[in-house]
Amino acid sequence: MAEKKAFVTGHPIAHSRSPKIHGYWLKQYGIDGSYEAIDVAPDDFASFLKALGDNGFRGGNVTIPHKEAAFAGVARRDDAADAIGAVNTLWFEDGLLWGGNTDGYGFAANLDQYAPGWAVNGPAVVLGAGGASRAVIHALKARGVKDIRIVNRTVARAEELGRHFGAGISAHGADALGELLGDAGLLVNTTSLGMHGNETLAADPGALPDHAIVTDIVYVPLETPLLAAARARGLKTVDGLGMLLHQAVPGFERWFGRKPEVTPELRRMIVADIEG
Ligand code: ATR
Repeated sequence: MAEKKAFVTGHPIAHSRSPKIHGYWLKQYGIDGSYEAIDVAPDDFASFLKALGDNGFRGGNVTIPHKEAAFAGVARRDDAADAIGAVNTLWFEDGLLWGGNTDGYGFAANLDQYAPGWAVNGPAVVLGAGGASRAVIHALKARGVKDIRIVNRTVARAEELGRHFGAGISAHGADALGELLGDAGLLVNTTSLGMHGNETLAADPGALPDHAIVTDIVYVPLETPLLAAARARGLKTVDGLGMLLHQAVPGFERWFGRKPEVTPELRRMIVADIEG
């Protein structure tokens, strides 16, 4: 059988860690397949999508700035993509191009691995109301978290997400944070604050109860200022790298026919790359 081919596309794409992740699994499982990074300019994305099947691809990943164009350009979407409003994974099914979104899956699987029981730990406070926040809120809802509090600098964006996702979601400005944390079981940062080169995040985990879990979707650095403060306070913390690794799982399974494992060795390899 012909080599199974997949890709990740973005613009730029050179920084993507996805080829390392999928390359590791292809080797690990001895699969006759390839996974390459392809830089596609926004103007060329629609024709790139149309030519996928003819070029022999089984599917691939889509990242910035193509996630919304992919959402609009596929023939069918899964429920997660519809809820999140963006597509990060493409595959063919019965001759049709499908688009899915695995970011919420990756978020939940990361917490399942490092903080089992997280979904029944109490109300969740989500910092930020952008694309990443949508994926996190979708996952929280899917896992039955009943009280989700979105906190954002621009309250109107949080309110819009509240309307989009419906019951159980409340929207707040940054001033309300201290009060909202008092009985929370989970604090999630979805903003880019705390990423290398950006300002740090002013959220003070001190107000959280002792059983709370704190997680960040930022993974460069692995321990963000928020996670460091939470750890110093004695709280359980989960870094964002596992979300990146786990979000790759469903795509690999669809294109290459085997559900891959997020192993400590894979994690060590990507950590070395980040710290490299
Ligand atoms: P992404 O798709 O990665 O989530 P985004 O849609 O640009 O990116 O959203 C970025 C999030 O980080 C938003 O919640 C943004 O707050 P606003 O909606 O008020 O812009 C938040 N953010 C970015 N820089 C910030 C800052 N300096 N202070 C507070 N919040 C910030």
